[in-house]
Amino acid sequence: MRETQALIERVRRVSADVQQIDLAVDPALMQLKPGQALFVRRHNQHGWEPYLRELWIPVDMRPGRLTVEIASSLDAAPNEIVDVLSPVGRPIPVRPRIQHLLLIADDALPTPFVFLARTLSGGGVAITLVLNGLAARYPLELLSPEVEIVRGDADWSWPDQVATFQWADQVLILAPGYRQADAYGRLLDRVRQIRTHDLPDHYACGLFYDRLACGAGACGACEVRAHDTLLLACADGPAIDLKRVVFR
Ligand code: FES
Repeated sequence: MRETQALIERVRRVSADVQQIDLAVDPALMQLKPGQALFVRRHNQHGWEPYLRELWIPVDMRPGRLTVEIASSLDAAPNEIVDVLSPVGRPIPVRPRIQHLLLIADDALPTPFVFLARTLSGGGVAITLVLNGLAARYPLELLSPEVEIVRGDADWSWPDQVATFQWADQVLILAPGYRQADAYGRLLDRVRQIRTHDLPDHYACGLFYDRLACGAGACGACEVRAHDTLLLACADGPAIDLKRVVFR
């Protein structure tokens, strides 16, 4: 992990919930992979400087420019210089020779899936994204046009659900902290019903972003209890194999 600085070049409000920021960054940050994020400290907070950093998640990368997405409620303005710790987290583990990927955003904006979907669909992977609850407010034009969008219901059903699970070579789910035990546990039960004989490593992964404090594996605030050990979302995640997770 390195500490660098980045310059905000452009800010775009893309919906009521999110804004996208183009950053000029240190060349080392152009090595970030989907799943890895920036931990940002800002200095123009109207006379006070927050102790905790903000998690900025990349959604696109072009030569010399990294685009991140953050909540529209956060102040951001061009020409601001921010301190950046990165990378936070590991690349999302994509299974070898994957052809079909199922993404589920359950009451959470699908920002963490955008860069991954763009990267994989460019490589010929067929992607289906299920949007449920708050996720349905995300502006679909920001997603790669190749991504198939499916609207889910509050009771966790969507058209051809069994077929989408059978078809998928890997399933990733994103939910806010208060829903993770229920949604991630439910997903694991469902894939175990469908894949009764084998559940390969990383077939079903949940994304964990909550409770990040240091972002560097030092404070333990982001612990995820696993059957064999304690994992840290900031160091072992954000994508964690749900087979390993203890649901309480
Ligand atoms: S946020 Fe401190 S260990 Fe993960």
